[in-house]
Amino acid sequence: MRQKIVAGNWKMNTDLDSGIALAKAVNDSASSKTTDAIMIIAPPSTHLSEIQKVLTDVKMSTQNCASEEKGAFTGEVSVDMIKSTGAEYVIIGHSERREYFNEDSATLAKKVDLCLSRSLRPIFCIGEVLSERESNEHFNVVFSQLSDGLFHLSEDELKNIVVAYEPVWAIGTGVTASSDQAQEMHAFIRLKIAENYGKEVADSISILYGGSCKPDNAKELFANQDVDGGLIGGASLKAEDFIQIVNAF
Ligand code: PGA
Repeated sequence: MRQKIVAGNWKMNTDLDSGIALAKAVNDSASSKTTDAIMIIAPPSTHLSEIQKVLTDVKMSTQNCASEEKGAFTGEVSVDMIKSTGAEYVIIGHSERREYFNEDSATLAKKVDLCLSRSLRPIFCIGEVLSERESNEHFNVVFSQLSDGLFHLSEDELKNIVVAYEPVWAIGTGVTASSDQAQEMHAFIRLKIAENYGKEVADSISILYGGSCKPDNAKELFANQDVDGGLIGGASLKAEDFIQIVNAF
């Protein structure tokens, strides 16, 4: 069966000391985990090497990576730098990267390839904005993001991808997708993967839901057949909320 995963995206929050304290608290809370779900945290890149030292039961991700391997790209963080910290996952194509940093599909596909070349697992984010859902374009939008970012991969490469469906209108707004809306889109994503790679591959890919996922709604969301966990923003900044979400399985 496919992996259950709950990943916490800290975004641009915490300084080094508070980040280490939060990482320790999350790692400690893992001892009360009641499921086999993998726990991942994605702290700011500046914290990675220190945080790695305090993690035993939690895996580490970054929130982004550069689209070039190395060289004169001031301010960027390369996949080799990430790999050297012990991180195993990289969030790619978060809607905030797409929107505020103009990251297009071609750039994101390059990042995916670079990560895979270093055995880093991409958590690849897709999702529509509100106007796209209101005009009934959400399936087309999500399909384009999925196929443009991932469908150039071989079957073996695709198996290393975690997909995160994050409707942009639900991120940080307190408005979560309904359980039915989440299941409907996750089933659609899995169907599109099956059409291109076959059912066996599609059934092996973890598809996470993200967007105002909290302790009080995680159970209902995770109960869906095609929802394999969550990508958690705000609620991942409190260890007790994060572990409650993990234990919602
Ligand atoms: P949120 O963020 O849980 O704060 O809505 C989710 C995300 O952006 O990954």
